[in-house]
Amino acid sequence: MSKQFDVIVIGGGPGGYIGAIRAAQLGFNVACIDEWKNDKGGPAPGGTCTNVGCIPSKALLQSSEHFEHANKHFADHGITATGVKMDVAKMVGRKDAVVKQNNDGILYLFKKNKISFFHGRGSFVKAVDGGYEINVAGSTDETLTARQVIVATGSNARVLPGAPFDEERILSNDGALRMGAVPKRLGVIGSGVIGLELGSVWRRLGADVTILEGLPTFLGAVDEQIAKEAKKAFDKQGLKIELGVKIGEVKAGKKGVNVAYTDAKGEAKALDVDQLIVSIGRVPNTIGLNAEAVGLKLDERGAIVVDADCRTNLPGVWAVGDVVRGPMLAHKAEEEGVAVAERMAGQHGHVNFNTIPWVIYTSPEISWVGRTEQQLKEQGVKYKAGTFPFLANGRARALGDTTGMVKFLADAATDEILGVHIVGPQASELIAEAVVAMEFKASSEDIARICHAHPTLSESMKEAALAVDKRTLNF
Ligand code: FAD
Ligand code: NAI
Repeated sequence: MSKQFDVIVIGGGPGGYIGAIRAAQLGFNVACIDEWKNDKGGPAPGGTCTNVGCIPSKALLQSSEHFEHANKHFADHGITATGVKMDVAKMVGRKDAVVKQNNDGILYLFKKNKISFFHGRGSFVKAVDGGYEINVAGSTDETLTARQVIVATGSNARVLPGAPFDEERILSNDGALRMGAVPKRLGVIGSGVIGLELGSVWRRLGADVTILEGLPTFLGAVDEQIAKEAKKAFDKQGLKIELGVKIGEVKAGKKGVNVAYTDAKGEAKALDVDQLIVSIGRVPNTIGLNAEAVGLKLDERGAIVVDADCRTNLPGVWAVGDVVRGPMLAHKAEEEGVAVAERMAGQHGHVNFNTIPWVIYTSPEISWVGRTEQQLKEQGVKYKAGTFPFLANGRARALGDTTGMVKFLADAATDEILGVHIVGPQASELIAEAVVAMEFKASSEDIARICHAHPTLSESMKEAALAVDKRTLNF
């Protein structure tokens, strides 16, 4: 006997579980299927984000930053800390506990919202009268049917050809988040978001970290001025980043990994490391979904093809998050999950791709929303730029963290904010003001006229907005 629902969500990551909650709030009878297992084989909803992504990486970034502060910066405050040690097992254990709190939180939310949770792999069986039959292969086999299906099956780490992940020597984000000890020498391929965040974690704990990046520019998607400032800070910290390399053979042995590569000048080189993180992007995941059974259309990258509203080629089947086009970010997946649930209920769900913020949680943090200066130039848009350095911000001086700046880009004619870019302390939190401003189509003058509490880092937002009109007060 199949169990009937209004909506079946396949995948319990940020796209799936948030979409399921919104659908339940709107009165649908919802099932959510997720196959992630914790180390005891039990359910661990939350997807990549909760289990091997956003949450655990931020837990390790926090622990390693404390360690670095104790070793390098406490002395500036008159605090003597000698014999500071890192118990890696305890740090990783704390991270696991944080992950579990989040897994449990989602299971609680399923109950609270009367969502039926199924632990196992969901796959399409066939289209049935006005809906779909979905099989759940878990500890037991179940058949569910619903008129509407949301596919939110996420993504997997991209494999470097010739260097499959063994999670011992060659690590994906999964292995990189549960290393048992600090490697002496750590290699990273790809200086994108994961490479920089996880490279920073292990560097802070004492590893000699070398990042090899294929592109000649550092963080090409980031505003050039901001990327340059960030690179300066990473160089100073001793994070070695080689740009414009071509990776050759990767040999993993018992003792370590040897990476042959050609550097930017065309010289043959080799890097010997104890462990290697490969972070060269992620690929959409539809493994085991049996998309063929119902004719669900995928593109050449393996992503599910959707329109602007997340509708697939099949009536009643929607797809959201990393498995579809667009940035692979948890908050983008969540927004799409909510919007789809609202569209199913006949409402006008909405995701504004122009105001999705990005954050890289290194130290200094990097965040941005909207267009970069190089994009505006390419598009021939006339703009005004205003920057304000944290060096001139009283709170940043009191914190002892004056690296970086805030940068505003506004339309030359209308003064509408077109992009905001930050490198520096708490950039992850500061960017929210810019997102709100851009959603409300604010001008830089709007931000310049708003009263910001003193002394706060947020005053740098006001000052950068003032800088657009060349009238900073503190610089
Ligand atoms: P996922 O989170 O991947 O969830 C998909 C779920 O579906 C998984 O639980 C999977 O097991 C399940 N599933 C797949 N197929 C099936 C099936 N057939 N049946 C049942 N279940 C299935 N983003 C940010 O915004 N901020 C960050 O700080 C951040 N940090 C990150 C750090 C790392 C190391 C990584 C790897 C990613 C990070 N991301 C971050 C990206 C973020 O994790 C993803 O964008 C987000 O998880 C995508 O959500 P999703 O719901 O689309 O997919
Ligand atoms: P990424 O796309 O951010 O960076 C990959 C990097 O690897 C790029 O700079 C690329 O040029 C380089 N590269 C690709 N192939 C290469 C090769 N063969 N040799 C050398 N360099 C190569 O991907 P990453 O870091 O794997 O992260 C995947 C995604 O996960 C991110 O794009 C982001 O969407 C998400 N994420 C988000 C985080 C956040 O929001 N803070 C944190 C971590 C991940």
